[in-house]
Amino acid sequence: SLEQSLRPQTLKQYIGQDKVKANMEVFIEAAKMRQETLDHVLLYGPPGLGKTTLATIIANEMGVNIRTTSGPAIERPGDLAAVLTALEPGDVLFIDEIHRLHRSVEEVLYPAMEDFCLDIVIGKGETARSVRLDLPPFTLVGATTRAGSLSAPLRDRFGVLSRLEYYNEAQLTDIVERTAEILDVAIEPNAAIEVARRSRGTPRIANRLLRRVRDFAQVRGNGEITNTLCSEALELLQVDSLGLDHIDHKLLKGIIEKFRGGPVGLETIAATIGEEAHTIEDVYEPYLLQIGFLQRTPRGRIVTELVYNHFHMEIPKE
Ligand code: ADE
Repeated sequence: SLEQSLRPQTLKQYIGQDKVKANMEVFIEAAKMRQETLDHVLLYGPPGLGKTTLATIIANEMGVNIRTTSGPAIERPGDLAAVLTALEPGDVLFIDEIHRLHRSVEEVLYPAMEDFCLDIVIGKGETARSVRLDLPPFTLVGATTRAGSLSAPLRDRFGVLSRLEYYNEAQLTDIVERTAEILDVAIEPNAAIEVARRSRGTPRIANRLLRRVRDFAQVRGNGEITNTLCSEALELLQVDSLGLDHIDHKLLKGIIEKFRGGPVGLETIAATIGEEAHTIEDVYEPYLLQIGFLQRTPRGRIVTELVYNHFHMEIPKE
């Protein structure tokens, strides 16, 4: 699919995350030289930074298949057993949102990761016995937005832990230009920079904005994404100069208007603006923390002076 072809297929094509990339290159090369499977890899960081893409690239570079599932999709130990027994030697098993695995499922994963085996109990009561099944060696690639909510025993079983970082403007500009080329749409250099600047450090957002801007260029112009068309489109898309959208605005203005800038607890904010606390914590907060708009304190979240400046609001006096 087009969605698939937008994703880089090799480490060489992958833009950004230079440290992760350089390390992975070595680990992959070393595993291949020893003709071993790659050690288990945990990728963590905010959504949209390329965890799934990297998992696919790892499988490609190792020359193996990838099986993809997610924490919420594996409801019972038997579901995981089914996935594990279907693997072929060397395969990458990608588990997205791995922090959402049930404890009972996690316990099946430990011996699978450590010894490539599956302990299954046959029968009930007095006649129950445990049988050990060998599995093909495999590489688990786990992805999570929250390394902190992974249980310690699970985290300890990964040989490689890689944190993905927000992308800088130059990297995002490269990504926008690469995607534009794949989509076969012309884009003026400054328009690419503008899309990058408003993408909250996140390739998934950059590519989404690019597609929406392309729609405007097609309908209102002659298809080329000019600087003027791009600015107009971004205005209409209600993405502000820093890439903040209406939910970011609701969040920040809510704290200012209802709680005098904070501190206020996450659950209280969530109830006030009608968003899930988890969504705020995983999707919206990380970037606002990163750009210094929000701070976490023991008593709750507070907005900083930068927010008042951004909204041209007066900073309240004590
Ligand atoms: N498209 C989305 N993310 C990308 C990345 N990191 N490198 C290249 N193209 C991308």
